[in-house]
Amino acid sequence: MEATITAAVGVAPVALGLPVPPFTPHAISVSLPTWRDNVGYEAGDKRVLDAMVCGYPRFFIGLGIRKLAQLCVQKFGVHGESAMLFPTKKTADACRSFILSRSALEGTQASARLIQLLICPEDKANKAILVNSEDCDCNGSASLVDLHIVLFPSEAFSVAMQFWTHSGAGISSRLAEQCLSLLPEGLPSSPSFPTPSRGVSFKSSHKHYGVKGARRVSPPIIAEDLNADHTIYLEERYGRNLPITAASAAKRALRLRIAGVQLRDAPKTDSTGDQSSLFGPSTRGVNDVSENDVYLYPGGMNAIWNAHQLILAVQPVGKSVCFGFPYADTLKVLQKWGPGCHFLGHGLDSDIDQLEAILEEETKLDPSKPPIIALYTEFPSNPLLRSANLSRLRALADKYDFLIVIDETIGNFTNVEVLPFADMVVSSLTKVFSGSSNVMGGSLVLNPQGRHYSNLKSYMNSNYEDTYFDQDAIFMERNSRDLQRRVRVIDHSTEAICDFLYSRSQIAGVPEAVIKDVAYPKYTTPEHYEARRIKSNAQTGVQQGGYGGLFSVTFTSPSASHAFFDALPCYKGPSLGTNFTLACPFTILAHFNELDWAAQYGVEADLIRISVGLEDTNELLAGFRLALKAAEAAVGQDDLI
Ligand SMILES: *[C@@H]1O[C@H](CO)[C@@H](O)[C@H](O)[C@H]1NC(C)=O
Ligand SMILES: *[C@@H]1O[C@H](CO)[C@@H](O)[C@H](O)[C@H]1NC(C)=O
Ligand SMILES: *[C@@H]1O[C@H](CO)[C@@H](O)[C@H](O)[C@H]1NC(C)=O
Ligand SMILES: *[C@@H]1O[C@H](CO)[C@@H](O)[C@H](O)[C@H]1NC(C)=O
Repeated sequence: MEATITAAVGVAPVALGLPVPPFTPHAISVSLPTWRDNVGYEAGDKRVLDAMVCGYPRFFIGLGIRKLAQLCVQKFGVHGESAMLFPTKKTADACRSFILSRSALEGTQASARLIQLLICPEDKANKAILVNSEDCDCNGSASLVDLHIVLFPSEAFSVAMQFWTHSGAGISSRLAEQCLSLLPEGLPSSPSFPTPSRGVSFKSSHKHYGVKGARRVSPPIIAEDLNADHTIYLEERYGRNLPITAASAAKRALRLRIAGVQLRDAPKTDSTGDQSSLFGPSTRGVNDVSENDVYLYPGGMNAIWNAHQLILAVQPVGKSVCFGFPYADTLKVLQKWGPGCHFLGHGLDSDIDQLEAILEEETKLDPSKPPIIALYTEFPSNPLLRSANLSRLRALADKYDFLIVIDETIGNFTNVEVLPFADMVVSSLTKVFSGSSNVMGGSLVLNPQGRHYSNLKSYMNSNYEDTYFDQDAIFMERNSRDLQRRVRVIDHSTEAICDFLYSRSQIAGVPEAVIKDVAYPKYTTPEHYEARRIKSNAQTGVQQGGYGGLFSVTFTSPSASHAFFDALPCYKGPSLGTNFTLACPFTILAHFNELDWAAQYGVEADLIRISVGLEDTNELLAGFRLALKAAEAAVGQDDLI
């Protein structure tokens, strides 16, 4: 391999395409150590793609999931089909609908069909095989896994991949691993060209495990065929077969933690969350928030996708507003589901003026309904770290009767208090909440004081389905126990680093500086961030919130930026909030095909985003000094090229 290994001071180098951190099963980040590697990855450079053994799960379908999907295609597909796997029928259905409607829009009208499967553990000697759900009557000791397959023509893969990426609803790598562990090594091979009219069939040594249902494989097989009794039957199977007590305790502990009802600094907090004596009123600034207002999802993007589906379901038909430059897929979700959105991409006060104009105009056009159905904003935003004036947005929401959804992934509830201004707060638990870079998760909190609460709550009561894989929840619960401690360390180091970089920037008035700007809540729209920053309270023991662990830095020339990135002695890869420092050329990774569009909103192509970890502050500072030297040395090299 070429020079794909970083010269690292603080960390052992990780080769291109390997998991970050190294040797981490189910790692959610992947090493892209140099600027060139990142560009190569986005440009589809074979050198880079061939090296990738993992990736961020919404962008890179894990190898285990691919293998399982491949097996499903072999068993149930016809020639030229691909499969995507989902944990429930509803999520699989949403994928199918998306493929149908989106491919029609793109002029390639694809079909798609669903198959529900149970992977049914047999006795140890024979292991399990894939069966159609109706044929499974095993209630043995091991886990029974419910799997929903969407089969579609391979040409529609890129459309299906949009669904996978934007919705984050696909199965987790741990679920795939569990399925594969239940399957025997040498599955009976199926003909590579199955007779479409008859579907696939394969022999089984056990009568219970024949693929009887596969006779209906020819399109469309629709899991709607399942009746209600069957559904209950399946649920009971879950109850008996999974370590349900551990998983449900972990999920409850997560919901308590996210509701903020877990007392800060509780000594030796009971990991299962069962000791209610350790819990008090919510620290989120809203009375009566309870764990029952918290909903878990398999990822942050999936929480946003579900928030949007929920609002589309309870509000009259209308557009949404995306306020501020958001994480890429948030905007895509708002654009691709429902009637679309107004994009106010700067997220500054002037955008609120523009919002007011839109609200007035829409109200004139149709006074009978709210001018917009909801406004989505990140507090602060990714990657520009801008914060909006939430009280002004709230006043507009109350006046015009729309909902506010705040994504607090970057700020989080140990640093900022945003729930009082929101109808819903969404967050990616994958980030600092977990910290370990080995599991995904997301949450949605309903504000019980919100005007639309009872509507939202009753919709959730009848429609929410828990698709968060139990084992993932168990990992997430373990990882998040020391969130408060980690956040404090990270906040402290990040502030020290940003103060250093800021003092060497043009924005701070150093004309010869190679750093142009540092985006960090302490310096970026500070008046709005400070207004929501948690204040210390001696009585309750609440500590003052910090500025978070994420910042972005821009340079006066591309070569300075690239040199800084390549020289920075830390892991390089997607994601943030990890307990180790992680850097990425964010705009390249998230907006490679729309660089000019992103630049319009101040998201420059050569921006570097850094998430600070738990390393020693002085060691980190030394690393940043080194990278800055490299950037200074590289200045002017653009002219030479
Ligand atoms: C399966 O469940 C049925 C009814 O619940 C029970 O009678 C039977 O013994 C179980 N079989 C096994 C193999 O556990
Ligand atoms: C935020 O908006 C409120 C309500 O319009 C206003 O009173 C306040 O001054 C604004 N805050 C800042 C920092 O501009
Ligand atoms: C960070 O997380 C990894 C993976 O869970 C763990 O092995 C490591 O000990 C953690 N580091 C610190 C300083 O907490
Ligand atoms: C919480 O705070 C930390 C450190 O201040 C930050 O890195 C992280 O992104 C925040 N987000 C979440 C979801 O906890």
